[in-house]
Amino acid sequence: MAKKFKIAVLPGDGIGPEVMNQGLRALDAIAEKYGHEFETTEALFGGIAIDKTGQPLPKETIEICKQSDAILGGAVGGPKWDNVEQNIRPEAGLLGLRKTFGLYANLRPVKLYPGLIDNSTLKREVIEGMDIMIVRELTGGIYFGQPKGVMESGTKGVNTMVYTVDEIERVAKTAFGIAMMRKKRVCSVDKSNVLEVSKLWRNTVERLAKQFPEVGLSHLYVDNAAMQLVRNPKQFDVILTGNMFGDILSDEASMLSGSLGMLPSAGIGGKIGFFEPVHGSAPDIAGQNKANPCAMVCSVGMMLKYAFDLNEEHEAIDNAVSAVLEKGFRCADIAAEGEKVVGTKEMGKAIVEEIK
Ligand code: IPM
Ligand code: MN
Repeated sequence: MAKKFKIAVLPGDGIGPEVMNQGLRALDAIAEKYGHEFETTEALFGGIAIDKTGQPLPKETIEICKQSDAILGGAVGGPKWDNVEQNIRPEAGLLGLRKTFGLYANLRPVKLYPGLIDNSTLKREVIEGMDIMIVRELTGGIYFGQPKGVMESGTKGVNTMVYTVDEIERVAKTAFGIAMMRKKRVCSVDKSNVLEVSKLWRNTVERLAKQFPEVGLSHLYVDNAAMQLVRNPKQFDVILTGNMFGDILSDEASMLSGSLGMLPSAGIGGKIGFFEPVHGSAPDIAGQNKANPCAMVCSVGMMLKYAFDLNEEHEAIDNAVSAVLEKGFRCADIAAEGEKVVGTKEMGKAIVEEIK
């Protein structure tokens, strides 16, 4: 059945706009194929918003997002805004958006596309068949805890890792729910041998797990988890972790699938979801048609599934990305030596043709 949705589009900075263009082309192809209507409204976000309005997340942008069924983000930040005050940096806009919309759970799927098996820096036998869902807490932890700031006349910097039982429970519920639809295993990652906040995290997850008796729960300290991810990633199904640990582990895990340019994400938990690639704005290659649009295209795919409940359409995007990789299309970040490299637009075009 044909459906109609409103989407706020926040291209952002650096490679954000280029990859967003390809994401929107893929969305158009889905609209055409399945007869849906996607009404998109573009809004300022990140560094470009600072330049034009003085704020990384202008009120008008929030309004546009509120009137939408989902939000798509490109990437934000760049050296141009490195000296901007911390609380109005592009990154602060991103954190503000996640907080404003209550997106406490960030889903970061890490899987191996068969076409890329020899393009990872890790050995084939280590990554073959690997399929992980990282569930990163997104609106709490050290990213948001109080007190914070530079204190004592600039001689002391403070951030505080805070989690309440409620915050831990709700994201754990998301992780267990997702595990129920997968291999029914959750590995919770913390640092409870050192941090009290992590001890509370572990105890709370243990308690919540009783509501999901079918799901097997294990725990790892974050340092060990970082090691296990490259030693034997196939041991993981769902990884549940806090904001900063999840940030770090997801960048690490992206290399299992070949490149950070492959990883999409879905920020969920509130009324309106936010879908963005895991990668940043890559200012060094911005505007050169070099960026890999796969993460953005797959983020569009995640929006179809998690915001609009369009599962077949989500699969169509995923299959198209998989197929073009199988056919040998490579952006620079995923090309092995001697492989032909295509640009952002060519990759996007190949995906669109495959969807059709
Ligand atoms: C990410 C990014 C952001 C984060 C930055 C840009 C604020 O690294 O989405 O992983 O740390 O959450
Ligand atoms: Mn990150």
